[in-house]
Amino acid sequence: MSRLENKVALITGAASGIGHATARRFAEEGATVIGFDLNAAGEHWQDVVSLAVGSEFVTGDVTREADVVSTVEGVSKAHGRIDILVNAAGVSSYGDTTDVEEDEWDRVMNINLKGSFLFAKHAARVMLAQGSGSIVHIASVEGLLGLNGQISYGTSKGAVIQMTRNMAADFAKRGIRVNCVCPGAIETPLTAVLQDESMKPIKDQMVSAHLLGRFGEAIEIANAILFLASDEASFVTGHPLVVDGGWTAGSVLSV
Ligand code: NAI
Repeated sequence: MSRLENKVALITGAASGIGHATARRFAEEGATVIGFDLNAAGEHWQDVVSLAVGSEFVTGDVTREADVVSTVEGVSKAHGRIDILVNAAGVSSYGDTTDVEEDEWDRVMNINLKGSFLFAKHAARVMLAQGSGSIVHIASVEGLLGLNGQISYGTSKGAVIQMTRNMAADFAKRGIRVNCVCPGAIETPLTAVLQDESMKPIKDQMVSAHLLGRFGEAIEIANAILFLASDEASFVTGHPLVVDGGWTAGSVLSV
């Protein structure tokens, strides 16, 4: 039996990285997947459609409530329900407290925090009407640790973790679970900037911060999202699931 048989899943950020890996993984498990992204899906979305007939892709901006409302209404009308929402749209940002301009702060908060709030707000209304649902946000270990030069990104991710708890409490008695994953560094276009030779010293430090001594793969986060989204996690809500190769667990000293 597939783990997401008969489930309808809406996934933001589905054109790339963790969102796309999740869409593909969900399709393998029998879900009908509706991807949403600012960018068009590209050819690789065919993987998802060929695995899960009826899957679709919608372009739009998570920061625009009109885009969110029309997408949620469209999915609800076409499929009759929304069982799972995964908020994987997000952007990185660099700069410390005295460097970051107001526009950049607003951009990061709007995409990483407000976009996830808006999709949860509207998808939850559908879930409340049907009496069940599972929402998974993507936070980060950077919402748990304070890293230098990451003031807006880290703050947005810390807020996503707290938003997860508040939403879990809002919906606990009404059939909706809300959780988030906190990935370590993952090989996706978001971290591609670290491939540049000039970034090697930083990348090396980040690799060694993970006890497992490597960056993660998008599929390793997709598998954790799958667990939280599925009925296997029926007693889990308000939880930030850390999937970070041991980054936050400790460090290995040279002896
Ligand atoms: P990615 O860059 O591969 O994918 C992010 C997707 O979000 C892109 O397809 C992009 O077009 C979309 N997006 C950006 N702004 C949008 C908007 N306004 N409206 C709609 N879509 C928009 O990045 P990745 O790595 O897959 O990141 C996914 C999530 O995971 C993000 O929230 C990121 O912060 C988080 N994360 C990523 C980590 C990593 O090391 N890659 C580590 C921890 C968290």
